[in-house]
Amino acid sequence: MPNNKYCESTIKVGTFFSGIGSPEKALQKLKEERIIKDFKLEFFSEIDKDAIKSFCVVHNVDEKLNMGSITDIKGSELPYCDLWIGGFPCQDISCAGKMKGFTSNSSTRSSLGWEMIRLIKEVSVKPKFVIFENVANIVSKAFKETLDLFKNDLEELGYTLYEQVLNAVDYGIPQTRRRYFLVAILNNEKDFSFPEPVGCDLVFKDFLDKEVDEKYYLTTNEYKIIDCNKIQFKKKNREDVIYEIDLDKYKQGGVCGIDKHCKFAISSRVFSELGYAPTLTANNTADNSKVIIKEEE
Ligand SMILES: C[S@@+](CC[C@H](N)C(=O)[O-])C[C@H]1O[C@@H](n2cnc3c(N)ncnc32)[C@H](O)[C@@H]1O
Repeated sequence: MPNNKYCESTIKVGTFFSGIGSPEKALQKLKEERIIKDFKLEFFSEIDKDAIKSFCVVHNVDEKLNMGSITDIKGSELPYCDLWIGGFPCQDISCAGKMKGFTSNSSTRSSLGWEMIRLIKEVSVKPKFVIFENVANIVSKAFKETLDLFKNDLEELGYTLYEQVLNAVDYGIPQTRRRYFLVAILNNEKDFSFPEPVGCDLVFKDFLDKEVDEKYYLTTNEYKIIDCNKIQFKKKNREDVIYEIDLDKYKQGGVCGIDKHCKFAISSRVFSELGYAPTLTANNTADNSKVIIKEEE
């Protein structure tokens, strides 16, 4: 948030690509910590029916607040907001995807980010603050040209820009999750700087559910020790499914093993509960990252 110590007025907020509304949660936290007085969600925009339902339950708002697909919204329909936030789709930018990019009008899902710029041009009173969020890979050479054009458009519309890649683990959350933030401030109205890293005292284990259905555990019914430190175990009746675990690395936290049958490097990694969680990618859902948990004694 801008560096004024306390925001006195109720901030009118609109979000795009709203998902389940993590920015709204963050605003709620700022309110509870008395960094802002209050905020009012004027609208959100989401197309996924499950996300919409979750959003309404999590934030206790009516589905009528959902403006639907950003492509169908006209600037004239939007109520005035001080702040817009949009974490636009990352599939075509993420290194876990095909990297088709987000060139304007290219019809990739990630190019939907430009729709927010179209709407800034269309509304009669522009939002004072706009926050864009995406994967860290957006600052890679592959997307520099498009990102520069995106930023140029915002500057031409009167915004001063601040950008940085932040990692969740530097801000108290035990997950390695690097995300790009672009903060646009109209007419240079406020000074802004990104928050200094505060580190993280927590580990993956602190966030794991205590009661978990047996089906989510890897079976250890058949395992064999390769050497003192490495344990290799196979899934029952599946000779091809082999996990190899390094107990020393488990104790240190971080990546401590490999799922040898997994095709994707990212999801083949096995993590220690004593370290930080990985970023879960869309293709992780089919073949999830695994975590090693010490059995209660
Ligand atoms: C990267 S996620 C954003 C997650 C969100 N920041 C949150 O806190 O949950 C992108 C979201 O954009 C939504 N989306 C995709 N196309 C859209 C469209 N045309 N209009 C509005 N939302 C869209 C997706 O359903 C997805 O929930």
